[in-house]
Amino acid sequence: MREQLTEEKVFKDPVHNYVYVQDQTIWDLINTNEFQRLRRIRQLGTTYLTFHGAEHSRFSHSLGVYEITRRIISQFERYDYPDWPKEERLVSLCAALLHDVGHGPFSHSLEEIFDTDHEEWTCSILLGDTGINEVLRAVSDDFPSQVAAVIKKTYPRPIVVSLISSQMDADRMDYLLRDAYFTGVNYGNFDLERILRVLRPYKGRVVVKESGMHAVEHYLMSRYQMYWQIYFHPVTRSSEIILRQIFRRAQELSRAGYAFEWMSPSIRQLLNNTLGIRDYLKLDEALVQTAFTEWSEEKDLLLSELCYRFMNRQLYKYVTMDNPDESLLNEIAETFLSIGLNPEYHMEMDYPFDLPYDVYRPDQNEGKKKEKAPILLLDNEDQLSEISMKSDIIRSITGLHQGQYHLYYPEEPLLANKNILSDKLRTLFKIGKEMI
Ligand code: NI
Repeated sequence: MREQLTEEKVFKDPVHNYVYVQDQTIWDLINTNEFQRLRRIRQLGTTYLTFHGAEHSRFSHSLGVYEITRRIISQFERYDYPDWPKEERLVSLCAALLHDVGHGPFSHSLEEIFDTDHEEWTCSILLGDTGINEVLRAVSDDFPSQVAAVIKKTYPRPIVVSLISSQMDADRMDYLLRDAYFTGVNYGNFDLERILRVLRPYKGRVVVKESGMHAVEHYLMSRYQMYWQIYFHPVTRSSEIILRQIFRRAQELSRAGYAFEWMSPSIRQLLNNTLGIRDYLKLDEALVQTAFTEWSEEKDLLLSELCYRFMNRQLYKYVTMDNPDESLLNEIAETFLSIGLNPEYHMEMDYPFDLPYDVYRPDQNEGKKKEKAPILLLDNEDQLSEISMKSDIIRSITGLHQGQYHLYYPEEPLLANKNILSDKLRTLFKIGKEMI
């Protein structure tokens, strides 16, 4: 086991005030190239186009998740709870710090197009020929695969997994607070100190002392609010749609043998789905945005238009549709074709939804990889109950699907051709008739 630092290191942090580093291993991991790369990847992808403060990086979030995990473990150690396995401290801290290290630029949008998975990249970085692997191997030969097992949720001790990945884990607690802080909204605030005080290790999992139920209610309401106000904001969805279409178009062109006037080797490999770890690590948001700036002058008019729109925030508008029927969508597609638009790229139906809090049901969800362990309350008689059984507030938002269909489209060509549009489409797109 590697030792503690002779002098504790601190990072100033706007959310947690200070992030404390006491272990040589953690300090060395932070200083690897792969971890430093997270400074060049935004935590919230394209959200900065909607909330201009949202420029914070995955580097700051990763430090935050580490710090919350460190505080939870310190609390467990301070009270010497017999259900906390003390030897799991370092593996837990490393997994917390590294859980997002495989994220690429604008990763959620890119993953949909290129069918990659940041969790798999994280494990490749932990296990491959990298600086991170070298630091982890200095602990012990099988330490890299132990950390990877926590991230893959296959680690034999579920309490370690639940710190990083459950309905109330260090990851979510950090990103809610951090995203609220940097977007400037208040919905995401909840009482982290209070929650940390009521967490208990109990029979292989982390549970909440029943008296802490209201602090957990507040956390779940914050999450509910953040989803609808920030994560599913329709303008952010618009920028994500354009981003995906840029990569879809670039991939289509690349497959057809189109000669790009500007190309980087790692982006070419991304488009061809032949990325190795070395080139994957070269991808960051600076490179992707350089590509977009260059491509906004490409000969291919569709690619150049989409890149211009993204870089200059000329996003698609949207209309809400209660129940989009096929014939209306066909009419829109035909009209779009007749005015020179490409329905494959210029119209997209979006239906965002997520469950603010999904109760764990072992009989129905068994075997699902993404399933998250539920929040359990521990009462004075050592009885556990799932929180929505005790809380009216949580029951009321459990399993709620809220969402509307939005149709995204470029408004300018419709305005320029408004006299060609049918009355139905003019009403839908809220475009008036030309007054003569
Ligand atoms: Ni995270």
